[in-house]
Amino acid sequence: MTRAFGAGVLAVQARARRYRTEVTERRLLLVNGPNLNLLGTRQPEIYGSTTLADIEKSVTALAAEFGFEVRAVQSNHEGALVDAIQAARTDCAGIIINPAAYSHTSVAIADALTSVELPVAEVHLSNIHRREEFRHHSYVSAVAEMVICGAGAAGYEYAVRYLVGRV
Ligand code: DQA
Repeated sequence: MTRAFGAGVLAVQARARRYRTEVTERRLLLVNGPNLNLLGTRQPEIYGSTTLADIEKSVTALAAEFGFEVRAVQSNHEGALVDAIQAARTDCAGIIINPAAYSHTSVAIADALTSVELPVAEVHLSNIHRREEFRHHSYVSAVAEMVICGAGAAGYEYAVRYLVGRV
């Protein structure tokens, strides 16, 4: 009885996984949070001189080498980021996110990332642990599979390589 019930549960989970794989195949969501639209001119001594457009272009090109499309979203608004994350549930295979300042404040973004049940790679250009104390904690790190910080724009490329190998 217990065995049969257990097998039933397993079958449902296996179906759910198959469905997700079919629907989400070969697209990654790239999310950048507030103020990252200013990359290139914003505190280049901390964040480098690479623009967000450059990052989106290199992430897209690298993902394409592995047969993945990229949907790139940047917003300065928490709710818009939550909406973009939720929308990925049905058509993306993984999420690369630099939540920027919302890393340190947003339970809503962390909850959205948990809800979509996709592998998450969290990126920070700077090493947040060498900076002010309020940047040391990220709500997103608790729900991300991998976290990379301090590698500059290359961090996004490491995240792509991680996710394409993972999904
Ligand atoms: C950042 C680090 C955050 O503390 C900061 O608020 C950002 C960018 C980074 O990429 O290093 O906006 O996420």
